[in-house]
Amino acid sequence: MRRLTVPKLMEQKGGEPIVMLTAYTARMAQLLDPHCDVLLVGDSLGQVIYGLPSTVPVTMEMMIAHGAAVVRGSYHSLVAIDMPFGSYEESPEQAFRSAARLMKETGAAAVKLEGGAAMAETIRFLTSRGIPVIGHVGLTPQAVNMLGGYRARGRDDAERDKILSDAKAVADAGAFLLVLEGVMEEIADAATKAVGCPTIGIGASAACDGQVLVIDDMLGLFERVPRFVKRYDDLATRVSKAAETYAAEVRARAFPTEEQIYRPKT
Ligand code: KIV
Ligand code: NA
Repeated sequence: MRRLTVPKLMEQKGGEPIVMLTAYTARMAQLLDPHCDVLLVGDSLGQVIYGLPSTVPVTMEMMIAHGAAVVRGSYHSLVAIDMPFGSYEESPEQAFRSAARLMKETGAAAVKLEGGAAMAETIRFLTSRGIPVIGHVGLTPQAVNMLGGYRARGRDDAERDKILSDAKAVADAGAFLLVLEGVMEEIADAATKAVGCPTIGIGASAACDGQVLVIDDMLGLFERVPRFVKRYDDLATRVSKAAETYAAEVRARAFPTEEQIYRPKT
């Protein structure tokens, strides 16, 4: 089967909701791929995979290694890859070089970058040169040092107007999808109505044209999860129990047993 394409996803505006999850490894990509429209290699891998304190230290090399793994593990979903902090903000030219490298070295079909009006020129530069871009406004985790934390955005009129004008600027610049993160429902609704491309919410209500979650959060693997995450499983407990049972059996010499032992044929 051919992968979902940018034009096909854009047609879903106002129609069937777009299903997106993050993925960082080949095997997880294989498991998620049949159920998703878009697999996002998020720079959330900084915290989720590498135990970093934020997404700020994430490198191009990390994104490329995990991006290539996710592409190898999938064949149906469109794979998009986050541009890491510092790889695109300087100039449209810098952004093009980084985005082209991410796509060439991973096989991903699109990139995502954070920021509103300030990134519009860059988004126009990339999209007019063959690089599909997903925008990301509202709570933008790479700006944690400016925002002072991860609280939801749009609590007052000034913040609300800024998010709406950012959403419009990013969409007008040619973004084919727009992630709205950590915003009040009313803003998500207004932004979804105001832009021509589908919006993808994370902590942004059901008013969006699609949803995304961090895979480790929704599986109950990551220890701290924001309020907007629904846990669809409790893998942390299951992994702990499996490790506990294994440890007890090894210590009791109850594993391995006959079934797992190689012996010469007699
Ligand atoms: O890095 C990430 O996982 C993301 C999504 C949560 C949108 O940017
Ligand atoms: Na991200």
